[in-house]
Amino acid sequence: MNMDIVTSVTALRERLQREPNNVFVPTMGNLHEGHIDLIRIGKPKAACTVVSIFVNRLQFGPKEDFERYPRTFQNDCEKLRSAGVDVVFAPDEKEIYPEPQTFAVEPSDLQHILDGEFRPGHFRGVATVVLKLFNMVMPHAAIFGKKDYQQYLVLRDMVRQFALPVEIIPAETVRAADGLALSSRNGYLSQAERAEAPRLYALLRDARDKIANGERNFQRIELEAMALLAQNGWVPQYVTVRGRADLQAPEAQGRELVVLAAAYLGKTRLIDNVEVTL
Ligand code: PAF
Repeated sequence: MNMDIVTSVTALRERLQREPNNVFVPTMGNLHEGHIDLIRIGKPKAACTVVSIFVNRLQFGPKEDFERYPRTFQNDCEKLRSAGVDVVFAPDEKEIYPEPQTFAVEPSDLQHILDGEFRPGHFRGVATVVLKLFNMVMPHAAIFGKKDYQQYLVLRDMVRQFALPVEIIPAETVRAADGLALSSRNGYLSQAERAEAPRLYALLRDARDKIANGERNFQRIELEAMALLAQNGWVPQYVTVRGRADLQAPEAQGRELVVLAAAYLGKTRLIDNVEVTL
């Protein structure tokens, strides 16, 4: 099977004209097994699988890693070809932002909590580019990993509120054998940091087990987990138990929870989460 690589919206639209429908996996490149899994989930859902590779400046803060974000286009294309992708959309910045992006998607207040508190403007940037990419690709379904849980919820809300004809399909987090959630940012870790990194998931699993075993003092769980991270050289931003539907503090009768964490290990910011059903 041929894989077409297109870089302009015009060429993309022309190529997709001959497809009855398509499923879409937006990415920022530097692809790993987590991305390939999204493709595996998407592929059976449509005649054509489209993957975009675009490092979106709009979702990076001024002090964040936009410039050094790994760009590995040739390698990515090989992986996509092996995964059976039909179309790669790899626009440059001028194609997506030919003029300053003055219109933007303003997500609900969900954008300001958790990651949004530490990365102001991030979800606005994500929602804006994803809406734009949806308008270019016009997929009938799109796959998003649950590692970025808040992103998944923001985009699910966007689709519902704007009545976009796109089904948002969540995918489970893919992990290394030692439990570390796969992420392009793992590549920033030194050897010693990489050995330490699985602690984040271990500690989330621990929190999940405590809750499953009846612990309801969530604050104690959160504080203990944050302290443990700090003791091991991390700079934690949050470890928190939330309701899965809206990431607010869990209601007494809420049964669907998620424990989320974000922490710096050296210069690298890692996030992860685990779901708990009571
Ligand atoms: O999850 C990502 O890689 C990005 O946030 C996305 C969805 C491709 C938008 O730039």
